Amino acid sequence: MVSGGGTNLQAIIDAKNQGRIPHAELSLVIASRPDAYALTRAEQAGIPGLVLRKTRAVSIEAYGEQLLQVLRDNRIEVIVLAGFLTILPENVIRAYDHRILNIHPSLIPSFCGKGFYGLKVHEAALARGVKVTGATVHFVNEIADGGDIIAQKPVLVEPGDTPETLQKRVMEQAEWLLLPKALEDVACGLDK
Ligand code: GAR
Repeated sequence: MVSGGGTNLQAIIDAKNQGRIPHAELSLVIASRPDAYALTRAEQAGIPGLVLRKTRAVSIEAYGEQLLQVLRDNRIEVIVLAGFLTILPENVIRAYDHRILNIHPSLIPSFCGKGFYGLKVHEAALARGVKVTGATVHFVNEIADGGDIIAQKPVLVEPGDTPETLQKRVMEQAEWLLLPKALEDVACGLDK
């Protein structure tokens, strides 16, 4: 599930193509917005994509039911939130207990929870003056960024870093490696 540029989705696609995710098939990409470039990446990789928007007209539960229907129709067993910036409804979280992975661009429990997403995370890390940050892959539960941690990787902050340079380093050195590996580990565990 994606909302933006989809570089983490691309890392998963590349890992799958290189044989590093033998225990999972990439069946569907769901975007929260129609202009997400991640949808183009999915199309180029031959993965079906669709847009499911949370509009004000529907309740969060009804949106969850729509999502669950799509997930069931496509026989989805594991969900990866790869830069998905809509809060996931509780009915979906309950139905996929310990089967939803999220990537977060900091070392949880630092700079996480409500309001911490994308560049805002790196802005906060730089404002606090930390010398080490990183990325975390965790299972999703009803608490924002509060589920069980699967994997973490530290990344050094460098003098002169901007939120953008730090984001790029965290992606290159941590996120794009951690997420495909965590997906394979979780999928492999379910296969046993
Ligand atoms: C990534 O840095 C991801 O860690 C972050 O959004 C970016 C999405 O980039 N996710 C969060 O902040 C979740 N709280 P991408 O679309 O290029 O993968």
